[in-house]
Amino acid sequence: MASKPHFQAILFLLSLSCLSLESYSLNLEREADYHKWISWHVNNFRKKTSLEAESTTRAPPGGIGSKLVLDTKLRNAEMNKVTINVSQDGAGNFKTIREAIGSIPLHNTRRVIVFIKPGVYREKIAVPRTLPFVTFIGESSGSDQPTITGNDTASVTGIDGRPLKTFQSATVAIDANYFVAVNMKFENTAAHEDGFVGGQAVALRISGTKAAFYNCSFYGAQDTLYDHKGLHYFNNCFIQGSVDFIFGYGQSLYENCNLNSIGKKVTSVTAQKRTNATLESGFSFKDSKVTGTRSGGGGVYLGRAWGDYSRVVFSYSYLDTIVLPQGWSDWGDPTRHSRVYYGEYKCSGPGANFTGRVPWARVLTDEEAQPFLGTYYISGDAWLIRP
Ligand SMILES: *[C@@H]1O[C@H](CO)[C@@H](O)[C@H](O)[C@H]1NC(C)=O
Ligand SMILES: *[C@@H]1O[C@H](CO)[C@@H](O)[C@H](O)[C@H]1NC(C)=O
Ligand SMILES: *[C@@H]1O[C@H](CO)[C@@H](O)[C@H](O)[C@H]1NC(C)=O
Ligand SMILES: *[C@@H]1O[C@H](CO)[C@@H](O)[C@H](O)[C@H]1NC(C)=O
Ligand SMILES: *[C@@H]1O[C@H](CO)[C@@H](O)[C@H](O)[C@H]1NC(C)=O
Repeated sequence: MASKPHFQAILFLLSLSCLSLESYSLNLEREADYHKWISWHVNNFRKKTSLEAESTTRAPPGGIGSKLVLDTKLRNAEMNKVTINVSQDGAGNFKTIREAIGSIPLHNTRRVIVFIKPGVYREKIAVPRTLPFVTFIGESSGSDQPTITGNDTASVTGIDGRPLKTFQSATVAIDANYFVAVNMKFENTAAHEDGFVGGQAVALRISGTKAAFYNCSFYGAQDTLYDHKGLHYFNNCFIQGSVDFIFGYGQSLYENCNLNSIGKKVTSVTAQKRTNATLESGFSFKDSKVTGTRSGGGGVYLGRAWGDYSRVVFSYSYLDTIVLPQGWSDWGDPTRHSRVYYGEYKCSGPGANFTGRVPWARVLTDEEAQPFLGTYYISGDAWLIRP
């Protein structure tokens, strides 16, 4: 499990990458350098043209000539990390996650690692924009993942007397940048019927950029994971829900994740909201699997077009029988057929059969798939830290 030595390893990697940056930035013209450059990216370091302004643009596979620079704010934060412990039995610095977050100074510039002991934390958590560089690490192995749970829905009345709406229903809401979670379970237990108005019940909303989730699980029904906006990376995560359970306009890479549908009617796994052709946004699922039970005769679309330019790609993924032959839904608007980007690449399993697919779904060529496969899809700069 995550512990001190791996953060030392991160520092070591960061310092290594500083050294190698210089040589990489010299010359990317030649073919061999290009391939080195690609593998360098796959090792989780990012092309960067400028620290802030360009950080959300997608690096083209042949992004030649631009300088590679580490994200200095992140590097400084990692070099000055602090840890705090949360334990419900009083053995840590805090008994609740809320208190731990409350102890972090505004406009924090250091990596704050919050170690969380196993337990069920019935807390509504918000990490505001003013608290970047927060990491949650669940201290357990396997079955007793620390759980943050709640049951708010869009229709629940908030303190201002008005319905919370989907956005505020989240058990955990992250508005800060550079958030990381490892081995945590995020949950919204609100009971729910498919498509019930006001039944949206978010387990986690991520609105900050440069966020990463490793070995986490997300449990909910309608709208489980609000992948709202920003660059996000998910690795080895389990995500369960019924209706549109991964939604928003984040630019995200999901690797080695299991998306599990519990929908009873026909539902959709994703509702990606890319709303215009210039918006750098889309969900890429790689080496993942889509599973679920067809209780009540339901099945799932891989995606439905919440945005006119909705963009979702599945590659090297196992698609089980739960996936409907049509594969994708235009949400009742045929004008979207020519605008959405729904691609599949080297997927397997009964749900990957293209015989019944909507004609506007794409079988991606190697070239078309490539931009979605590496971590350069979420690009920007060297922000991605692998614990
Ligand atoms: C938090 O717990 C870890 C072990 O899990 C320990 O090494 C560390 O010193 C603790 N930190 C504080 C501030 O108590
Ligand atoms: C949420 O859980 C609380 C406490 O367990 C319970 O009192 C409340 O009725 C639940 N609300 C909903 C909408 O399920
Ligand atoms: C595209 O959508 C984004 C997000 O809603 C918005 O900020 C941006 O202004 C839009 N761009 C255009 C050209 O409409
Ligand atoms: C794909 O589906 C079609 C129609 O259901 C079927 O005839 C075909 O055998 C399937 N292909 C594979 C490889 O399973
Ligand atoms: C995630 O879990 C796997 C085992 O399933 C483990 O090998 C790996 O170290 C974990 N990753 C992190 C970042 O803790």
